[in-house]
Amino acid sequence: MTLPRSTNGGANSSRVLIVGAAGFIGQFIAEASLKSGHWTFILVRSIPSCPTKAKALKGFKDDGATIIHGAINNQELMEKILKEHKIDIVISAVGGANILDQLVLIRAIQAVGTIKRFLPSEFGHDVDRADPVEPGLSMYNEKRKVRRVVEDAGIPYTYICCNSIASWPYYDNTHPSEVSPPLDHFQIYGDGNVKAYFVAGPDIGKFTIKAAADIRTLKKSLHFRPSCNYLNINELASLWEKKIGRNLPRITLSEDHLLDAAKEKIIPQSVVASFTHDIFFNGCQINYAIDGADEVEVTNLYPEETFTTMDEWFNGFIIQMNPVKNRIHG
Ligand SMILES: NC(=O)c1ccc[n+]([C@@H]2O[C@H](COP(=O)([O-])OP(=O)(O)OC[C@H]3O[C@@H](n4cnc5c(N)ncnc54)[C@H](OP(=O)(O)O)[C@@H]3O)[C@@H](O)[C@H]2O)c1
Repeated sequence: MTLPRSTNGGANSSRVLIVGAAGFIGQFIAEASLKSGHWTFILVRSIPSCPTKAKALKGFKDDGATIIHGAINNQELMEKILKEHKIDIVISAVGGANILDQLVLIRAIQAVGTIKRFLPSEFGHDVDRADPVEPGLSMYNEKRKVRRVVEDAGIPYTYICCNSIASWPYYDNTHPSEVSPPLDHFQIYGDGNVKAYFVAGPDIGKFTIKAAADIRTLKKSLHFRPSCNYLNINELASLWEKKIGRNLPRITLSEDHLLDAAKEKIIPQSVVASFTHDIFFNGCQINYAIDGADEVEVTNLYPEETFTTMDEWFNGFIIQMNPVKNRIHG
């Protein structure tokens, strides 16, 4: 695909608008976009009150991003922004509570008619295949609705199905990679033998940005299945034990425990419980083959690229816990 060149980017740069760049997943995408030399535009509703988020936005600005104020559920404003900044690619990383706000953005993209690629807020499982209980199901129904509206509107799209973010998969934390793995005991889901794929946040950002300007991902779902990070929770626990240099007690959490946590409908924790159940009891990341005409796997697409391993990712937590004192085992 030939995308227009940006004024100050490299030869293959595009004009990328990122929605939700101050958010958890959006920060990885913004970082990767700037690193790739794309002309990067960041839409923010307001300057975040959270100092870490505000600092991240300032960092993006210092690195050359253009900060634009606005919300995606304002069609007129979005059309103006897309036109004025000659945006090629729109990547949305709005959170679970705002998935349907994207319907207005889609109308703006359709009206403008010049967007070469739209990546809606997915960044998890293949929502057409996964089968979580409520309240996760409601979020997936919204993501499914967004997919259908994008397809019906004839907008060029890519769906990023990156599976789990590299971290200890706490069943009650939406942003588990921000928390250290356990230091007292492990909670093991069932027999702990169902595998999943874990992908470091910076790799989610990097491959999202690569895919956004890649003709081979046009109108396709991009699945992330790095074999180096294909692990079950028992293996994850052993890996962490090696890092901290001691063994921890393992407590089994039953299927009913997760289903009960989902039934409590405490948002967002119960949503995470329902996804955790789908991953570690239903095997939602691994119970299908990627063989459709409308899907590609990231390591097949970019065989020359490496993924951060869970082993390496856990080293980061050890350093964070005590940069001076802790040595890395194993
Ligand atoms: N694979 C995984 O392990 C994993 C983990 C977490 C999330 N996810 C997925 O990743 C996606 C992003 O989730 P997240 O947790 O990163 O979200 P988040 O941290 O809540 O961030 C969402 C961002 O979107 C912005 N936003 C929301 N509504 C908006 C609107 N109408 N207009 C403009 N900006 C808007 C928010 O702005 P404000 O700052 O103004 O609120 C915020 O910056 C979701 O689809 C989620 O399901 C996947």
